[in-house]
Amino acid sequence: MSGNYASIVARLMSGSRCSLPVVLWSLVGCLLMLRIYSLLPHKDALSRELQNHPGKHFVDLREFEEEENLRIPPPRGKRSPRATKRRPKRMTTFINEFLDDSSQLRHIFFPDIKMAIDPTKHKDNDSSYYYPGRIWLDTEGNPIQAHGGGILYDKRSRMYYWYGEYKDGPTYHAHKKGAARVDIIGVGCYSSKDLWKWKNEGVVLAAEKTNETHDLHKSNVLERPKVIYNENTRKYVMWMHVDSANYTKASVGVAVSDSPTGPFNYLHSKRPHGCDSRDMTVFQDDDGVAYLVYSSDDNRELHVGPLTEDYLDVTRVMRRVLVGWHREAPALFKHKGIYYMITSGCSGWAPNEAMAHAAESILGPWATMGNPCVGGNKILRQTTFFAQSTSILPIPRLPGYFLFMADRWNPANLSDSRYVWLPMRVAGLADQPLEFEFRFPLWQRVSIYWHKRWRLPHGSSG
Ligand code: DGJ
Repeated sequence: MSGNYASIVARLMSGSRCSLPVVLWSLVGCLLMLRIYSLLPHKDALSRELQNHPGKHFVDLREFEEEENLRIPPPRGKRSPRATKRRPKRMTTFINEFLDDSSQLRHIFFPDIKMAIDPTKHKDNDSSYYYPGRIWLDTEGNPIQAHGGGILYDKRSRMYYWYGEYKDGPTYHAHKKGAARVDIIGVGCYSSKDLWKWKNEGVVLAAEKTNETHDLHKSNVLERPKVIYNENTRKYVMWMHVDSANYTKASVGVAVSDSPTGPFNYLHSKRPHGCDSRDMTVFQDDDGVAYLVYSSDDNRELHVGPLTEDYLDVTRVMRRVLVGWHREAPALFKHKGIYYMITSGCSGWAPNEAMAHAAESILGPWATMGNPCVGGNKILRQTTFFAQSTSILPIPRLPGYFLFMADRWNPANLSDSRYVWLPMRVAGLADQPLEFEFRFPLWQRVSIYWHKRWRLPHGSSG
């Protein structure tokens, strides 16, 4: 038998024209083809994977695959022949519709109060659903005011605290060409056990009403407040973007409190590392070191630097990252030892395309991985679902899943800006190679999934 087998193999080898090198090269070719195939976008493969493991994923596939039906309404009234000739690009038109408060699409971007999410009045089969873009009411029935915010999980009280800009005032323009603004009212704080039902804890850092020289005088700007807890000092530390009405002060402010619900004591503002600083965030690493990340050099680059041990100041260490990329609204998270960041472009209150970035060290270098938005339609994906990143929270007990928090700004009425919270997943191969070295990236793809309606799986939030 074995003699037969040997002779068959010998005959095959000698009879075939396939020499060993040819076999080896074909193998290498196959492997290369497989690698190229794996790098192509595979919505179907992803959908199939999600469908085959419904228990493993909590996103509703019917909604994931649904194409949002956005159509530009016909022009109202007469258009000048010149305007007809200069037809704007598709994207610009949708953004114009978004920015036009009398647009016929208004109800799609900013659904009516009748559609509000009211956790106190939900019917049982309708509970805990997020509806990105709808008005979201707190436990007293008032729209939540926590824009440009972030969430702190407080281990001591086992509560989530959501801090953000309390913008419940009239929108106006301080200068003819200036951005729309609302006077500073302060930083709002809301508490929750389940990330869905939020109790208003009040304004935990209030504006200064009379002293015009104060950083927080109501005529100035307070944006993107973020709070972290310092285990050593047992203090809650708030960092925020502090600016003048025309955004030339470009500084960060720091406030501190003994309790997550304040009151926060405002300490000082500064230009970190002597640099202009606009959109910013803070990130607390697993080893307790916290970092300030801010847009600088007129938003051309981001700066990253560790805070002092008490979190009240920056140290002298600072690295310039994503130089020349013009990114803002940074939101960071860490997964399996890799740092990830979502940013937006710089277009005032108007939405633009998000980008995901990754790095092995928080101080860089940071690589750019492209647009993380998945599902919906092209317009939604290219406008970050008509929203802008603000913060990212790991979803407890679901490794690899995160809550992506974004703001759908309403420049016609900033107090009516909406929240776009969506599930985000880190999994699969990154679809862009490293820019700065020829090797495969260690990181995975970041995907933010569009959903008209979704909820966290039972038991994952509390
Ligand atoms: C974009 C920033 O991300 C917001 O926080 C705000 O500063 C607006 N610009 C103002 O136009």
